[in-house]
Amino acid sequence: MRQHWATRCLIGLTAVFALWSGAVAAETQPWWKGALIYEIYPRSFQDSNGDGIGDLNGITARLDYVKSLGVDAIWLTPIYPSPQVDFGYDIANYETIDPIYGSLKDFDRLVAEARKRNIRVIMDLVLNHTSDKHPWFAESASSRNNPKRDWYVWRDGKAPGKPPNNWQSVFGHSAWQYDAKTGQYYYHKFYIQQPDLNWRNPAVQKAMYDVERFWIRRGVSGFRLDAVTSLYEDPTLRDEPIVRDKAGKPEINVFGEVAVDGSLTDKMPGVHDVLRTLRRIADGTPRQQVVLVGETWVGSVSELSTMYGTHNDELQLPMDLQVGFIDKFDTARFRKLINDAETGIGGNEPLFVLDSHDKPRWDRYGDGVHNPDIGRVLSTVMIASRDTAIYYYGDEIGMVTSTPTRKEDVRDPVGVTGWPKEKGRDGERTPMQWTAAPNAGFSPPGVKTWLPIPASSVTTNVAVQTGRPDSILAWYQALGRLKHDNAALRNGSEVMLNPGDLNVLSWLRKTPGGPAVIVICNFTAKPQKVSFDLKAQGIATGKVATLLKTPGTNDLGSLSEIALKPFGVYILQVR
Ligand code: GLC
Ligand code: CA
Repeated sequence: MRQHWATRCLIGLTAVFALWSGAVAAETQPWWKGALIYEIYPRSFQDSNGDGIGDLNGITARLDYVKSLGVDAIWLTPIYPSPQVDFGYDIANYETIDPIYGSLKDFDRLVAEARKRNIRVIMDLVLNHTSDKHPWFAESASSRNNPKRDWYVWRDGKAPGKPPNNWQSVFGHSAWQYDAKTGQYYYHKFYIQQPDLNWRNPAVQKAMYDVERFWIRRGVSGFRLDAVTSLYEDPTLRDEPIVRDKAGKPEINVFGEVAVDGSLTDKMPGVHDVLRTLRRIADGTPRQQVVLVGETWVGSVSELSTMYGTHNDELQLPMDLQVGFIDKFDTARFRKLINDAETGIGGNEPLFVLDSHDKPRWDRYGDGVHNPDIGRVLSTVMIASRDTAIYYYGDEIGMVTSTPTRKEDVRDPVGVTGWPKEKGRDGERTPMQWTAAPNAGFSPPGVKTWLPIPASSVTTNVAVQTGRPDSILAWYQALGRLKHDNAALRNGSEVMLNPGDLNVLSWLRKTPGGPAVIVICNFTAKPQKVSFDLKAQGIATGKVATLLKTPGTNDLGSLSEIALKPFGVYILQVR
């Protein structure tokens, strides 16, 4: 999208203003460093036309609210035309918008309105597979010698009725689907309706790189690369090893089948070449830095570090899906993994994630007694670390997971296949709770929304929390401001403090010469006392000032005695 000269001047002026107003290092470092990214699931954010499904105009209408959170960018999960089997992750056309969400015009307006508020737009890019309704697949499946046959992964079965090997779909059962018309199987890592593209085919590569260029021209500031580690499979089609427990017994997965380890269908070497090309294209963008965020399921920091590229020429922000997904308050484990991210990725920027449209919300850490304070602890760990942080719409008001209780209500197909062990992802995808009104201000009252509005919306919503300093919303807003405006919290290095403490996780953020910040989180349901001796960090503690603390926490006396409530947080500045 070409910018009008007036828009360009305005952007220039904004930059000057930012400099003049002392905004932290905004001009000297890429916009996405130390940034906050807000994940929006468009179906569930705001319905503007009363059909029970969220849409782009709904998001645009809510941008002032988004701005109030202090976020730098929004990541939109897929809004392309789609049969919606996987709610948009099955794409039938990569270069336009699904009419249920709006039009390209609506998209342009969203990008422009976001930009006015200094919010950037990150698109979800699904490279691994298309919908089976994509014209490419229709052609590919039409005959064995169609020119697009080789755009997907077609193979003969091992024997009549037998798939080529034992590979499994993430969503259960064989990853191979038989096509009677052409007598071969196609490979699908995800749903049957999501055939994998054949990335060994240069024509496929070119088509997908063109998609990247298309959206860059349209003004997006980055991509979240879906399932990007699974682009390639072992070309010799060997069986994958079976997963065994400690006693050597084969493990049975939630779908009731012997589990295989995924080692020949994920993180194959070719992925890195693709990442380098995607990065080269992103880096060629005039006037702005386009960021590549990766959905990177890794098992260790060394694996994570490879995603940045040997020469830092791959992803700027591969997701660290370890820290946020510890799923219990294991202080030592958090300390280790955060420290790993600080020391084990070559000084690159970590990207921490707490939850998403694929993962039960933050309340999976809840104890039912201290949940609001637990929400404060988790958001602090995510946002006050040295990282770029992603959080998921609704976290900021304490929206909870609302998993269906009856199989017949499930919309996510994996919840039907896996019921009752795997109930699918509907629980984390319910509509945003704006008000206490019927349909929570998401859709007009009386409309049937695509997923039910949780009963908790009557008490948990934006309207009731707005302007209340002790609300969880006010907490998120304060953290957002701190991450922006406090130099130590935005850019400072991070050192874990009191490494032997199994109850309280605390760390120091520090920039050369500036005031340092200490972040202290009580990981237990009991009150705790902590003290700090910062001489080893070169800080002779003089003045201490409170930046943020859990409502109801007493002001600290000194660094040698800080009292924390159960799951209490204290963030303070030391000079
Ligand atoms: C990613 C998405 C998930 C989707 C899958 C297949 O994991 O986050 O929602 O189902 O890819 O596209
Ligand atoms: Ca709608």
